[in-house]
Amino acid sequence: MTASFIGKAGLVTGGGSGIGRAAALEIARRGGKVVIADIADEAGLETVRLIEQEGGIAAFQHTDITDEPSVAALVASVVDRYGSLDFAHNNAAGGIPPKELADYDSEMNAWALKLYLEGPYFCLAHEIRYMKEHGGGSIVNTASLAGLVASPLTGPYTAAKHGVVGYTKSAALEYGRYGIRVNAVCPGVVRTGLTKDLPDEYIGAVTAGQVIKRLADPAEIAAPVVFLLSDSASFITGAIVPVDGGATTSTTSVD
Ligand SMILES: NC(=O)c1ccc[n+]([C@@H]2O[C@H](COP(=O)([O-])OP(=O)(O)OC[C@H]3O[C@@H](n4cnc5c(N)ncnc54)[C@H](O)[C@@H]3O)[C@@H](O)[C@H]2O)c1
Repeated sequence: MTASFIGKAGLVTGGGSGIGRAAALEIARRGGKVVIADIADEAGLETVRLIEQEGGIAAFQHTDITDEPSVAALVASVVDRYGSLDFAHNNAAGGIPPKELADYDSEMNAWALKLYLEGPYFCLAHEIRYMKEHGGGSIVNTASLAGLVASPLTGPYTAAKHGVVGYTKSAALEYGRYGIRVNAVCPGVVRTGLTKDLPDEYIGAVTAGQVIKRLADPAEIAAPVVFLLSDSASFITGAIVPVDGGATTSTTSVD
């Protein structure tokens, strides 16, 4: 069955780049109307331009997911523009400097929890409040491999992404009865702006533990996101889907 978004409208946070841009493009190709939410205006507008160039429908809404009124305004903007909020991909995030856990100070720890955990919470809460009153919807959170296992030198990120997995399960459990499905994808290392400065040794060490020994392309993460957001995944909720080249398959490599 082809995942169709004809007649549906929604949002992608962090849609200005990487995984979010790839997901937004694919949703628009399948007929969905998409609001691109990003803190980076130029990048977000560029995604809108790319979608329109292909004949799709999209708009940009400047959004900072760490600012609750900004998230509330985002949800309202989708409904104002397109008449409904049927799907949401909560995906935005930025990079964190690599350090051992105790070397982060409390300020950096608080910043990371705000961006990686409280931001997705604001998004979930505002989307759910709308969807609950309007017949349901589908939400996909971008967690991470670091939401399933520890990722080295990113303690607050790892903690927050485990939290995103927890929010995903809680929301799926509590709101299924309103027709709301909530799932998460857990990407391994993907070739995006977030990973461009990672040292080769780090990438080598991570990919060595995978079955498929390379970085992912953003489109390879977007594909399961789009499927989970669509009605093709109508019996899937609370699923935490590794999209990690097999990194979590086994602790033993056969190579
Ligand atoms: N790239 C990877 O290897 C990888 C691996 C696992 C998980 N992830 C997750 O995937 C998601 C997308 O990351 P990406 O790799 O595509 O990165 P990216 O940098 O290409 O895209 C992230 C986007 O989020 C936007 N953003 C940052 N802070 C924001 C804020 N406060 N409010 C709104 N928008 C904001 C950025 O401007 C950017 O456009 C993130 O949640 C990230 O943690 C990425």
